[in-house]
Amino acid sequence: MRDLFARIRENKGPLGKWASQAEGYFVFPKLEGSISNRMKFQGKEVITWSINDYLGLAHHPEVMAVDAASAAEHGAAYPMGARMMSGHTDFHEQLENELADFVGKEASYLLNFGYQGIMSAIDALVSKDDIIVYDVDAHACIIDGVRLHMGKRFTYKHNDIESLEKNLDRATKMAEQTGGGILVITEGVFGMRGEQGKLKEIAALKSKYNFRLLVDDAHGFGTLGKTGAGAGEEQGVQDQIDVYFATFAKSMAGIGAFLAADQEVIDYLKYNLRSQMFAKSLPMIFVKGGLKRLELLRSRPELKDKLWENVNALQNGLRERGFDLGTTTTCVTPVYLKGSIPEAMALVKDLRENYGIFCSIVVYPVIPKGLILLRLIPTAVHTMEDIQITLDAFSSIRERLENGTYQRLSAAVAAQMEG
Ligand SMILES: Cc1ncc(COP(=O)(O)O)c(C=O)c1O
Repeated sequence: MRDLFARIRENKGPLGKWASQAEGYFVFPKLEGSISNRMKFQGKEVITWSINDYLGLAHHPEVMAVDAASAAEHGAAYPMGARMMSGHTDFHEQLENELADFVGKEASYLLNFGYQGIMSAIDALVSKDDIIVYDVDAHACIIDGVRLHMGKRFTYKHNDIESLEKNLDRATKMAEQTGGGILVITEGVFGMRGEQGKLKEIAALKSKYNFRLLVDDAHGFGTLGKTGAGAGEEQGVQDQIDVYFATFAKSMAGIGAFLAADQEVIDYLKYNLRSQMFAKSLPMIFVKGGLKRLELLRSRPELKDKLWENVNALQNGLRERGFDLGTTTTCVTPVYLKGSIPEAMALVKDLRENYGIFCSIVVYPVIPKGLILLRLIPTAVHTMEDIQITLDAFSSIRERLENGTYQRLSAAVAAQMEG
């Protein structure tokens, strides 16, 4: 019989196979210093464009003071145990009430991690007779949540309402046979390309089809809408979202997440969400810290205004220079260039080493072959100087890409490796 680990020795997975060339630099880089617009990478200062601290709360003095005071008072553990057993406090309830109020829902429930939380929510919301219809480009946590579903599921083409309708037709016919209902799942903002889920168009289909809508608004919460309540508020359909999800890992600069919905849905989830029933409750540092962050989201609109001032300066500057930013309508700023994976690696190295710019790089198979995606995340703490330096650097690296510099550099590296 074969050793179970033989497979993982032979096949390290789609990303793992690049480990020897990429680890420590392109993946698992170590960014040091306080989370801010400038951090250190391998001892050198870089302008950081790869952290989702949209509102700049990670290193905000008032936030850090509350985090430190909570740690001093409660340690990192309190409360211990699952919410249902021994992990419940007034502060958890207070944060839930305030979050629900902020996103315009009757009630909310905290999750100790967004990823597991939304998986568990999908698991709890559907039975084997129900049908899930979801966007094919949905985040991995949604795909994993759907994997737990024992019944039928259909994907629709990314943000394609015609395709959604076609699948709602199929799902409706099937649900009539099984006696179940339909759950549609999309994202408020697709974090890679920066486009918003078409929530308005999806909500409009509710007059024709009977379904409930779950929205993962990880990138929309705090950044979109008049008050920062997210993509639903931005598109004027927050009330049409039946179950709203957002994580604390982005605008809230922490750990944790929440679901918000009608009271009866939250009451049900409290007793059926396996990721919370059988796991430790969110520690007080993140609960009191969450209350402080939410207070700042509500009371300091200038943070979101500054974020958008920076988003507009960066995106307009890039567009004026002829860069292709695809279909983004949010803070997520993707820059598409043409080139091979080795060229992309040489280009990113040049950006980091010679221009002091740290951004994320995405290549095939996440995006089509021959494309390079550089993903920039502007925040409220970036400066106009950061933006100007970055715009100039991007013009320069594009010129080097087009004149074959990175092709030569990557060929030299490849020859060195072979030799
Ligand atoms: C769209 C989306 N959903 C869910 C998650 C997972 O949230 P968490 O980091 O809280 O587990 C992320 C990443 O943070 C995300 O980008």
